[in-house]
Amino acid sequence: MHHSHCIEEMNKPARGSLLGIEHLDGGEILGLLKLARRMNPMKPRPLLRGKRVLLLFYEPSTRTRSSFEIAAKSMAAMTTLVLSSGSSIEKGESLLDTAYTLRALGADLIVVRHPLAGAPALMARHLDIPVVNAGDGMHEHPSQALLDAYTILRHKKTLKGLQVAIVGDVYHSRVARSAIHLSAKVGARVTLCGPPELLPEVATTLAPGLHITRTAEDAVRGADVIMVLRVQKERLAGVKISLQNYTERYQVTMSRVKLAKRDAMVMHPGPIIRGLELTSEVADCPQSVIVEEVRNGVSMRMAILSKALGRAR
Ligand code: CP
Repeated sequence: MHHSHCIEEMNKPARGSLLGIEHLDGGEILGLLKLARRMNPMKPRPLLRGKRVLLLFYEPSTRTRSSFEIAAKSMAAMTTLVLSSGSSIEKGESLLDTAYTLRALGADLIVVRHPLAGAPALMARHLDIPVVNAGDGMHEHPSQALLDAYTILRHKKTLKGLQVAIVGDVYHSRVARSAIHLSAKVGARVTLCGPPELLPEVATTLAPGLHITRTAEDAVRGADVIMVLRVQKERLAGVKISLQNYTERYQVTMSRVKLAKRDAMVMHPGPIIRGLELTSEVADCPQSVIVEEVRNGVSMRMAILSKALGRAR
């Protein structure tokens, strides 16, 4: 591996990398979803025996981090977790130097979460092993979009033609960006809803056929899926927004859920903030699949890891 930084900017990402949904086609997405159906964390299969999976997290995570780890271990891979706090990242080691260090330690694949958009892509262009994006800044969170699509398909026959309402802090949401790209590629129809501060008009340019509404009622009326987003307080610096006003106008409440189809699913990537973007009643209602999304995350990530390492069966 050479370390000349100017020429390598042109490199292609390492084979097998999953950097986002935007550059996948519908067939690749459906292939990954199909593969996930064959994965069962309760019945471990040693598909990744002898492989070392490095989990590199520069931001907090509960679900993504532990489900990638459980997924890797369910397939007999070895895993090592490196967090930015408590590692040499605190001493100023750069992203690429950290990546080269993990590679030198024998990593066969790196799962990375980073506050900056493009960090996983940069790593993938400098390494000869697959890099899996576990969330990069306000860019993408591809494994979340895939596990959400997988969860929808446990309840609905097809994604094509489904009406999906995405409600909340769309602007800061990598989950929304990945879900928007995925929906466009599989033919689901998306309505975005939120206040202008958290949902600028430009969001409609992310994919063809996107609509914006400024009332939660309009967004959820007739929806098959209500996808609630967390208000990302850690990314709100400089955004002037009244949380009380937000709650009144956009909080997903039972009376709003009742405007959706009778069999509508309520989703949220987590972590949920009860009483802000949704009520506790909605979080725990029979239509809520929030816990199921977490559970499905393991099978979906088993599929992602085995595909990335060329061991998909
Ligand atoms: N949905 C999600 O990415 O959750 P974590 O931040 O806990 O991983």
